[in-house]
Amino acid sequence: MIEYRNLRIALLGAGSVGAQVASLLLEHGEELANRSGAGLELVGVAVRDLDAPRSADIPRDLLTTDAESLILGADIVIELMGGLEPARTYILQALNSGADVITGNKALLATHGPELFDAAEQVGAQLYYEAAVAGAIPIIRPLRDSLAGDRIKRILGIVNGTTNFILDRMDTAGESLEAALATATELGYAEKSDPSADIEGFDAAQKTAILASLAFHTTVPLDSVYREGITSVTIEQVDAARKAGYVVKLLAICERMTDAVTGEEGVSARVYPALVPRSHPLAAVHGAKNAVFVEAEAAGDLMFYGAGAGGKETASAVLGDVVSAARRHVIGGPGVAESTHANLPILPISSVTTRYQITLRVIDEPGVLAAVATLFSGHGVSVETVEQSVAAPGRGDAAATATLVIGTHEASESDLSATVAALETSQVVSSVTSVLRVEGS
Ligand code: HSE
Repeated sequence: MIEYRNLRIALLGAGSVGAQVASLLLEHGEELANRSGAGLELVGVAVRDLDAPRSADIPRDLLTTDAESLILGADIVIELMGGLEPARTYILQALNSGADVITGNKALLATHGPELFDAAEQVGAQLYYEAAVAGAIPIIRPLRDSLAGDRIKRILGIVNGTTNFILDRMDTAGESLEAALATATELGYAEKSDPSADIEGFDAAQKTAILASLAFHTTVPLDSVYREGITSVTIEQVDAARKAGYVVKLLAICERMTDAVTGEEGVSARVYPALVPRSHPLAAVHGAKNAVFVEAEAAGDLMFYGAGAGGKETASAVLGDVVSAARRHVIGGPGVAESTHANLPILPISSVTTRYQITLRVIDEPGVLAAVATLFSGHGVSVETVEQSVAAPGRGDAAATATLVIGTHEASESDLSATVAALETSQVVSSVTSVLRVEGS
């Protein structure tokens, strides 16, 4: 029996996720109301174009182009328009009028999160954003609530489905990056006009900023997230990784660590393609699926896996937030503010330590291995493994060439970059063919 009044819900945006949210809310409204303890009334859906085709039918009388009027008087505003403006202005208007806001807008949260959280706190409203990271996968609420009593050490996430699809095709079907990107575009994973948000790692960096802020109770600005995309990953690297027992994955890494330079404790947030051991649970994440692997002090290792995108799948996360917001209205009291009390320093990439695998072409002559080893030790980088394969001299070549694959112990980025620079100019090295970090071991 629902005794609380009907809550007025305004939806901004009816794209692939918004249309599904509207449709599911209309279809299952009564059931969701029973779970919430309050009636749920979708009072309108703000769109740019009333006649645009949609992935689910929305009754015409719910559609409006006047978002501002719709926000006025709403108890819950769902923002699924994307982009920074006017989404930011609308969210601030909604919060300032006391409405709870639900958003899936990772770019906005990563860029203007503190301003929005402050606005919510001022009026005792709540900002929900389960859909902003890894689509359908519940990861925001587990980090904010379920793991609130624990200490997160590290998060390794596959949070971009497009790049996981591409790297997986390279690994399992032997496709080049270009061919795999073409397949991803054909299937609608990568944007036709501009796939750079995915393949250059921008999308993953936004999600990393959100996850690191939550995990470490510290505001992690987007521009402090180190980012490399997958555009320079070659099929040769993927093949070599497979032979060595690794798979290349684009990882979102959030880590509590000691600054290699100052010795101070801080937070590292970074995105890059890395070698992951095939025995690691993240190596089993195929296709466009997402997964977030959390290492917590008391809970140990946890993995959250599922669909990182998709209209209906992401709508599930939004509707979970709708039920949470409605329950909060019924119970009353102010929303829970974002926790940023730890305020840890954000470490630059030069202060991060990790392991590396470096592949070199050298001339197969006496003293070459010793010279290479001296370059590593001279920069304070400790070698863990060395593997050498020799190719017979080609016609006209004076000597055979060798390929050296060198695995390092943990080393700082700055020491490693100095080592690579020295290798590149060394007389004994013909070329440095690959430098990849190793994570998850
Ligand atoms: N473009 C994203 C991806 C989905 O490929 O995972 C939305 O975050």
